[in-house]
Amino acid sequence: MTGDAAQRSGAAGTDEPDPEGAPTKEVQGKQGRLEGKVAIVTGAGSTPGPGVGTGKATAIVMAREGAKVVCVDLYPERAEETKAVIEGEGGTALVVAADCTSSSDCEAMVASAVDTFGTVDVLVNNIGLAALGTVVDTTEEAWDRALSINLRTAFLASKHAVPVMAAQGSGSIVMISSISALRGDGTVAYSAAKGALLAMTVDMAYSHGRDGIRVNAIAPGHITTPMVHSVSQPGPAAAFMDQMRSEAGLLGTPGTGWDVGWAAAFLASDEARWITGATLPVESGVLSVTPLLMAGHLRAVPAP
Ligand SMILES: NC(=O)c1ccc[n+]([C@@H]2O[C@H](COP(=O)([O-])OP(=O)(O)OC[C@H]3O[C@@H](n4cnc5c(N)ncnc54)[C@H](O)[C@@H]3O)[C@@H](O)[C@H]2O)c1
Repeated sequence: MTGDAAQRSGAAGTDEPDPEGAPTKEVQGKQGRLEGKVAIVTGAGSTPGPGVGTGKATAIVMAREGAKVVCVDLYPERAEETKAVIEGEGGTALVVAADCTSSSDCEAMVASAVDTFGTVDVLVNNIGLAALGTVVDTTEEAWDRALSINLRTAFLASKHAVPVMAAQGSGSIVMISSISALRGDGTVAYSAAKGALLAMTVDMAYSHGRDGIRVNAIAPGHITTPMVHSVSQPGPAAAFMDQMRSEAGLLGTPGTGWDVGWAAAFLASDEARWITGATLPVESGVLSVTPLLMAGHLRAVPAP
């Protein structure tokens, strides 16, 4: 990492948010963009480990912006950790244990938000799990599972939240997709599901725009979250891949769940009132360059 890059990333102790979620001075100054709103975040827990997942970060950022946040997770103890951070900062959160592949759980999740906080203004469809495999070696079971976790969850959560939003004439839905929807990486089922989320985004934006509902997507790039580390053995290879995730982007700096959370809060807020059907890449510019032109950056030669 260059000296400039180190400074931008906060490696010199400037900007980088506390891994546990303490806001930077800059972020504290932005609070209030979701004041009075009720937000449901699915997958608001985080795979255990250092760092923060995108759902946990999104829930915390939205609470800092004034939203009451419904933290939904298959593992409620993970969502409880998110709630503890939010309440520790003076925010308001509710934990709902749900398997969002189930329609009745999604219905109950929306009902809990309405019963506890009065409505649903924001839905973040964040649940996802990567699945490696080509079209040849992906089993039918793995295909169905990947589409269930990455796509069906967003379908069912939206199905039950949209009528509440439509009844009040406003709402914002954010889909957490991936650059895997747009670039090949050997994850055929995951990529298909993430691509379908982008198709759902434009279709739902079309169908519900006149109900006052905006629907947008975020395509995160090579961010580092505890989930990423949980599927690799700690050691030199994992450390090398951490470095590569940073250096593959135009900025040469690491991305985290916080980067997705900040983007989601913006898209959910009234500042994005004229933005719908859009996909916002949060990827340090990896979609803006050809691999050939990154070759010079990716030689992986240690600095002298
Ligand atoms: N980490 C990355 O590099 C990366 C890159 C691009 C996109 N994404 C996307 O970001 C999202 C979150 O990734 P993360 O790394 O923060 O993962 P994570 O595992 O830390 O968080 C996902 C949460 O979803 C919960 N969950 C899983 N299945 C569920 C279900 N059926 N019902 C309710 N909750 C369920 C998990 O318990 C977990 O707490 C995913 O959609 C992922 O595809 C991640």
